[in-house]
Amino acid sequence: MNDNSTLQMRVVQANELNPLIREFRLCAADGAPLPGFTAGSHVRVRVRLADGSLDWRHYSLVNFSPAPDATAKPAEYVIAVRKEEPGRGGSQFMHMRLVEGDLLTIEAPTNQFPVGAHSGTAVMVAGGIGVTPLTAMAARRRADDLPVRMVYAGRSRELMAYLSELQALLGSDLTAHADDEIGKPVDVAALLDACGPMDELYVCGPGSMLHAVQQEAESRGWPRERVHFEVFAPALHVAGDSVIEVVLSQSGKTLSVPADKTILQCLIDAGCDPLFDCQRGECGVCVVPVIEGAIDHRDHVLSQTEKDGGKLIQVCVSRAKGARLVLDL
Ligand code: FES
Repeated sequence: MNDNSTLQMRVVQANELNPLIREFRLCAADGAPLPGFTAGSHVRVRVRLADGSLDWRHYSLVNFSPAPDATAKPAEYVIAVRKEEPGRGGSQFMHMRLVEGDLLTIEAPTNQFPVGAHSGTAVMVAGGIGVTPLTAMAARRRADDLPVRMVYAGRSRELMAYLSELQALLGSDLTAHADDEIGKPVDVAALLDACGPMDELYVCGPGSMLHAVQQEAESRGWPRERVHFEVFAPALHVAGDSVIEVVLSQSGKTLSVPADKTILQCLIDAGCDPLFDCQRGECGVCVVPVIEGAIDHRDHVLSQTEKDGGKLIQVCVSRAKGARLVLDL
C-alpha cells in the first residue's frame, strides 16, 4: 500500500464477459496481501479520460464463494465494467486502453451497501451491471446460512454477466428475467407481494428500476430501512435538459448551470464548499433548502412527501423544472 488508502495493482486478467462487459482480475503489484472487504464493497479506480485528465470511477467487488472467510484475505480483487456509450470516458479507458500487465491505482475497498444479518430473506433485485455488488452479498448470505433470493434482470441472457455463477450459487433462489424473452419489466408488485414481513430488499441497477421498487414499497407503507439500494449509471444529464439559473440567497451569487453539469459541480466551481458524498442521489448528504422554483427531483433519498413539498433538493443530481431556482445557501 502506498499511503493510507491507495493501492498499486496489476491487471492479471482482462476477460470479455460479453460485448458490453469486461471483467478485470487485479493483484497487488508488489505481491503483498490485499485488504479484506465486506460484501457490497467497492473500490475507486483511477482512470485516464480521453482529454488526458485523471479521474476516479467506482466499481463493486465481485465474489461468488460462499466460504465464510472468502473475502477476508483475498488474493485478488475482481471488478466488472460496463461500456457506457456515450460516457464521460471512464469506461472507455477500462474497455479500450487497459490491458493485462498494466498497473492501476485504486483506493482500498469501502462499503456503502452492506448486507444485513437479518433472519428474514434478503430479496435482491439486480439490473444489468448492478448485479456486481449483489454477487458478494448473496454469497455472504449463503456463507451465513441465511435466506436469500435474487431477481436478476437484463436485456438478454447473452448480456447478463455472471448468470451461470449465480445459478451455481443460488440455484432455485435465482430468477433470471431476460427482457427479450419476457417482453416486459420485472413485476415489482408481484415481487413485493411475495415478501414476508421480515424480508428486506437490496436493489442495484438503473435508476428507473430503483424508482419502481421504492415507489411500490412506499405505497405499501414499508419502512425505508427495509429497502437498501445502490444506483448504477446515474444520468448526469437527460435529453431536454437546458441551462438553469441558480441563485444563492445567502451569498447573493448567481450561478449558470449548463445542461451537462450538476448544480453541485457548479457550486464547487464557484468556490462554495457544499457537503456531498455519493454524487448519485443516494446518500442524502448534499440536501439544500429551496426557497423558490420548481424542482426536478432525480434523487433516491427524499420521500415522495418531501419531493411533493418542493422545499428540498439533492444538488448532486436534481435540477429545475423551470429556468430558475433560489437556494437557501
Ligand atoms: S451527494 Fe449523496 S445524495 Fe447528493
